[in-house]
Amino acid sequence: MKNRLINIKEEALNALSSVTDEKELNDLRVKYLGKKGVITLSLKRVGSLSSEERPEFGRQVNEVKKILEEGIKAKKDELKKKASLDEKKDFFDPTLPGERPARGTLHPITQVMDEVISIFTFMGFEVAEGPEIESDYYNFEALNIPKDHPARDMQDTFYITDDIVLRTHTSPVQIRTMEKESPPVRIIAPGKVYRCDSDISHTPMFHQVEGLFVDEGVSFAHLKGILKIFVHEVFGRDTALRFRPSFFPFTEPSAEVDVQCVICKGKGCRLCSNSGWLEILGAGMVDPEVFKSVNYDSEKWTGFAFGMGIERIAMLKYGIDDIRLFFENDLRFLKQF
Ligand code: PHE
Repeated sequence: MKNRLINIKEEALNALSSVTDEKELNDLRVKYLGKKGVITLSLKRVGSLSSEERPEFGRQVNEVKKILEEGIKAKKDELKKKASLDEKKDFFDPTLPGERPARGTLHPITQVMDEVISIFTFMGFEVAEGPEIESDYYNFEALNIPKDHPARDMQDTFYITDDIVLRTHTSPVQIRTMEKESPPVRIIAPGKVYRCDSDISHTPMFHQVEGLFVDEGVSFAHLKGILKIFVHEVFGRDTALRFRPSFFPFTEPSAEVDVQCVICKGKGCRLCSNSGWLEILGAGMVDPEVFKSVNYDSEKWTGFAFGMGIERIAMLKYGIDDIRLFFENDLRFLKQF
């Protein structure tokens, strides 16, 4: 009798441990503890036992019954817990806001380029373009920089062949435009230029905007007026500018234009090397030699030209002290614009 009871207990606990859902659990409960269940029937048999056997056997059956009842209850809790976890795993809340795709912004150089272009187009300039891979003729010769002229040293040139270069400035677009069009000419030429140079203020590729204005009676005063408007638009109306005599083979006279230091407002600081001024562009009156190479009559027409570096303008405008930041594509930098 006793052995049978132990077998029943073992068998029931075994079965219990492999139960995986509520139905199986219920079947098991009925099998052992139901009205006709194994344990229930064993209990009923207690009455037929002798008075010596009865108490001990009764106690044992009750004990097995209790163990089984507790096991079933524990299993039931376990199944419930598992079910609620499964439910959570598949839970999808359609009312949550969606994940927005990251939105890009215009590169700071593009923004400044667009601003410069819009200031000049507003003043009646048209946008002209030329190739970045340029012939020696357009990049140098036609701009009055002959082959052995020392002015070639002003720009560290990437040569592709003896006759083909990566353009070192946007000035060749002056020539290409004047070859195609007769005066009056009023263009700006934005684009990439290349020089073999790299440090905190130079990158091998950078951007320039060239300007060219040719008409009857164009004077240096017009150049000053146009550039003054430009500087006031970009840096603010209270920014002073000055013209310093300089040299470019394709302009005569030539000048470099400085703006009042954007940091110290002219008092002198590290950025402006204590001078109070920052150089922003080169300019001058178109040299008659240049007109000769495009068959313009320099007795009739005069003109001015200028060229500026966009990175330089952007650095001054936003207070950026290393030009290389523009081309590292670090989002922490780019997102600030
Ligand atoms: N091309 C010159 C440079 O890159 C700038 C310039 C353009 C100067 C037009 C005068 C006139 O340095």
